[in-house]
Amino acid sequence: MSKSLVRLLAASIAFALTITFLPFAVLEAQDANFHDAPDAAKLLHDPYEGAADKAAGKRLYDIHCASCHGRNAQGSGDVPALVDGVLESVAPGELFWFITQGEPQKGMPSAGNLPEPERWQVVSYLKALGLPQTASSGAGDPTLGTTHTAKLTAPPPHPPFTDFRFEEPGKVRKITVNDLPQPYATPSAENGPEIIPRPADAWPKAPGGFKVEQYATGLENPRLMRTAPNGDVFFAESDAGRIRLFRGLTSDGKPELTAVFASGLKRPYGINFYPPGPTPQWVYVTEPRAVLRFAYQNGDLRASGAPQHIADLPDGKGHWTRDIQFSPDGNKMFVAVGSASNSDDPDTTRQEKNRADILEFNPDGSSMRIYAYGIRNAGGGLAINPKTGELWCSVNERDTLGDDLVPDYITHVEEGGFYGWPWWYIGSHQDPTHPGKHPELKDKVIIPDVLLQPHNASLEFTFYQGNQFPAEYQGDIFASEHGSWNRSVRAGYEVIRVPLHQTGHASGEYEDFVTGFVLDDGRVWGRPVGMTMAPDGSLLVSDDGSGSIWRILAVSK
Ligand code: HEC
Repeated sequence: MSKSLVRLLAASIAFALTITFLPFAVLEAQDANFHDAPDAAKLLHDPYEGAADKAAGKRLYDIHCASCHGRNAQGSGDVPALVDGVLESVAPGELFWFITQGEPQKGMPSAGNLPEPERWQVVSYLKALGLPQTASSGAGDPTLGTTHTAKLTAPPPHPPFTDFRFEEPGKVRKITVNDLPQPYATPSAENGPEIIPRPADAWPKAPGGFKVEQYATGLENPRLMRTAPNGDVFFAESDAGRIRLFRGLTSDGKPELTAVFASGLKRPYGINFYPPGPTPQWVYVTEPRAVLRFAYQNGDLRASGAPQHIADLPDGKGHWTRDIQFSPDGNKMFVAVGSASNSDDPDTTRQEKNRADILEFNPDGSSMRIYAYGIRNAGGGLAINPKTGELWCSVNERDTLGDDLVPDYITHVEEGGFYGWPWWYIGSHQDPTHPGKHPELKDKVIIPDVLLQPHNASLEFTFYQGNQFPAEYQGDIFASEHGSWNRSVRAGYEVIRVPLHQTGHASGEYEDFVTGFVLDDGRVWGRPVGMTMAPDGSLLVSDDGSGSIWRILAVSK
């Protein structure tokens, strides 16, 4: 028997004794405890302290946890992130207790079948995720880099890249393929926002000639918004499982009426009206795993009955938002289904089948096929360009390759087009985690129309067709940028404008339009998600950080 095995056995026995004699019963669980862990859990000590091997912890994490919590523990959908200091105040013993128990009724399995030493290794790994990184992790292991608070003393970004400190309404930007750095030029950051309540003096900032008012607040997780042909504004409160709507505008700029159109849904996001035109018969709604539709007549405030199930969507893990559009002739239905992972290979990962695609169906749900592929996640926003009739999408590209890779993008979508994920990105750049794969696709990768700041998390967008904004804005794209987690200094957290100069085509330029959701010290109070036009030609932006809907309106200068 090796010396280390003896040590391990001795430690296990010591541990078994500790746990046996802990007085669980006499200590009351308090609210402040992590997932109602008993107080005694805090006293559990890692018997292998110092000996725990972080690399081993990471391997175990990758095998047993990453499929749900993400390779960078960034979380997704219902699964919480384990980075950004969320576990910082949690005692190692509480974590050990929690992963041993799991919370199976909420989808968190027990890890009790892992040997204790391995559970402690995972705990050490998780605790280390919350700490600021000392040595640069560089190319060796980009997934280990952590910078948990915004580095406000960081040097300014290298243009054309930027960050929240330099976002400014009206500022024009353009990123081209030649601007991209090498992969791992900087470590992979873990810097998601800690959302704070909006301070009384914080308000979104618009360029000259526009102002921002609060249309509604107190909403639960407002996400995608879509305006019905009669002017009612439908929106998803995804976490609450509801589709709600607003109607009208009071003299002080609030909705005249609000109603719950449908509830009891499973994380609804996409909403659309069918057939296209002034008198739809159906409201389509997407859940992560399904397309549903409700019978509808203009003016309905409430669904008249239960939804019809139209189509199953592939798997539900990972990216969960599924925006939906119809071709202008009403013959086809498009649904964007994002990847299950950051960049796992669909050739060898069953869960990635028919993911990272825009799928096409008949509007009755039949005849599914892949319309365009290699699109990591366009689930946040699809739109039809009213000038050209083309399908456009807003895409979240991959993480972990460094601060300034890979640009998110907004682009028109070519039928049968390949956009790179996961083997390539933005043209013929091979993803360093997939060396040598799919050389035959190298020259097929379409370069998107508008490259955005990497990690911006570009979500819903709309083509402006109102008559309130000045004429030069006609047909321009307005998009919500939810904001980064994988960037050492945040970017996004803004509304952008993509000028199309009345041509229906983009030149690659975009402009910061509404900013101010991040305080100077890097704390975040708002995150734009949805984007639609109100009947009076103002723009409505939903914000799931402050639970509000903002209204952007033109004012005379
Ligand atoms: C099948 C998916 C799945 C797997 C696998 C999984 N988890 Fe979870 N985990 C969840 C879900 C869902 C929750 C949220 C549960 C809740 O709402 O309380 C969660 C919650 C947690 C939390 C609490 C986070 C917080 O801020 O409250 C921790 C810690 C955690 N998981 C660690 C792990 C570890 C470590 C592993 C691997 C040993 C793991 N999980 C494997 C789905 C999973």
